[in-house]
Amino acid sequence: MTLAVLRAAPRAESQQKGVDAQGHAWWQHAVFYEIYPRSFADSNNDGVGDLKGITSKLDYLKELGVNAIWITPCFPSPQVDFGYDVSDYEAIDPMYGTMEDFDKLVAEGKQRDIRVILDFVVNHTSDQHKWFIDSKSSKTAEHRDWYIWRDGKGPGQPPNNWLSTFGLSAWKLDPKTGQYYYHYFYPEQPDLNWRNPAVEKAMLDVTRFWYKRGVAGFRLDAVDTLYEDPNLTDNPVLPGKDKFGRPNMNEKYNKKLPEVHDAMRKLRTTADEYGSVLIGETWTSNVEQLKDYYGTKNDELQMPMDLMMTGFKGLSADEYRKHIAAVNAAGHWPVYVITNHDIVRSYTRYADGAHNDDIAKMMAALYLTLRGSAIMYYGEEIGMENNDPKSKDDVQDPIGKLGWPLEKGRDGERTPMQWNHTANAGFSVAKPWLPVPTSASTHNVADEMKDPDSVLSFYRKLLALRHTEAALLDGDYVSLNEENPNVLTYVRRYKGEAILVILNMSAAVQKVRFDLSPAGFVEPKMEVLLTSFHKQLKGMFMELPMEPYSVFIAKITK
Ligand code: NOJ
Repeated sequence: MTLAVLRAAPRAESQQKGVDAQGHAWWQHAVFYEIYPRSFADSNNDGVGDLKGITSKLDYLKELGVNAIWITPCFPSPQVDFGYDVSDYEAIDPMYGTMEDFDKLVAEGKQRDIRVILDFVVNHTSDQHKWFIDSKSSKTAEHRDWYIWRDGKGPGQPPNNWLSTFGLSAWKLDPKTGQYYYHYFYPEQPDLNWRNPAVEKAMLDVTRFWYKRGVAGFRLDAVDTLYEDPNLTDNPVLPGKDKFGRPNMNEKYNKKLPEVHDAMRKLRTTADEYGSVLIGETWTSNVEQLKDYYGTKNDELQMPMDLMMTGFKGLSADEYRKHIAAVNAAGHWPVYVITNHDIVRSYTRYADGAHNDDIAKMMAALYLTLRGSAIMYYGEEIGMENNDPKSKDDVQDPIGKLGWPLEKGRDGERTPMQWNHTANAGFSVAKPWLPVPTSASTHNVADEMKDPDSVLSFYRKLLALRHTEAALLDGDYVSLNEENPNVLTYVRRYKGEAILVILNMSAAVQKVRFDLSPAGFVEPKMEVLLTSFHKQLKGMFMELPMEPYSVFIAKITK
């Protein structure tokens, strides 16, 4: 049995169309890495991460196999929603550094073939943005109609029953003009009025500003909520209560309105002028909805995120198999995401207490060997776990304060990156803005680099395979052994060769037969590329004994 992980030179791109020999654009083969800038690396030791900190870690990211970083908002902001309340779209928050630091980051990234993606908060601004300050000043202000202002239904009554996803009503009364403004998120995040052409123009200009500075694309925040029903029809009330104790609602009139797609097309036209990529924060309940975000003419988002796996309960090979089949049948380039800064970390979500690292490796092998572009979340590669606040007083995220204890907020998944096992996990000399979990003593970059069996070492090998194996980059997907409810088996097949992936999604040993004939390999030759087995395999097998939650990846030739 041979274990070989090779690194090859990057594939040549055609200068003309920005696509490679297989017709793929750079982002289709890229590995994206989401960085929460407050928590990645703190260069000035004030307890909060910054841009210089990110620049100092580019070599680490390069070595890991990252091709693009998506930085969550680093623009000036009162930080009510930790940057998702932007008060100036065309500057850098001094807490994170200067525009010079940003330009340096882009330039240093370029030297390492790492592109920079920014986070564009399209749905709302901060209430401290100059547009909103003017809008609020009088009913006749130049920017009045840049936001959604309405009279109440009656004294003390908001215009309708819409609720903010962050608790309470979605309307806030402004005593000065006696009207209410609409905010789907915090009251400090008033919704922009995308029906106003001046808003649309200003927002498209923001994207141009950054494209000209070398940004390779945007992750578009909260696209579902860009438009609202102009008649402000009440949403239907559903049975039951949400985690804030309010009635459940069908958000029929303030989410996923068809006009969203017009805005996506316009953003795409501008992105295309600069050869840039648009990634969408697209929460969907099924593949049909996701399909819409690519655009009927492939003229909307190149990368609408498929966040559906984050909602799967437990690990069922059947559930994953069906979902992957549906995504493939839809015919677009997939973007599977298993975790981010708004949801409990994947490590914690899947952990069973006995096989935590094995499960982390298994999930990595799943989403990094499937067709499509990959988006990682910082720390996932070292098996970082959630570190939720222990009491309400410790909470930083306002929704955690409002919804405690049912809703603890999102602090737990946003803690400092664990670089080593020294104080504060090597993130900062100062007390970090959020505490590191005790597991940082074992799950950190420095120690895991030295351990060939660590989660990090597994990620590094896996990403190296993903970048070098043509079948993982361009191969089709053939599902095998479909009757097995515990083991997900598939091949990625390309020009007479294939990569076989076997994932045991259960806590028991599973024996797996090798029948690759449905994929066209009758008497195949097999070279093992990567496993997460604890015991070395010896000899020949009719049936492969897959350890609990293990991974087996092999190269198949005829
Ligand atoms: C989605 C972002 O990911 C989240 O962190 C933020 O709070 C909301 N959008 C509002 O911008």
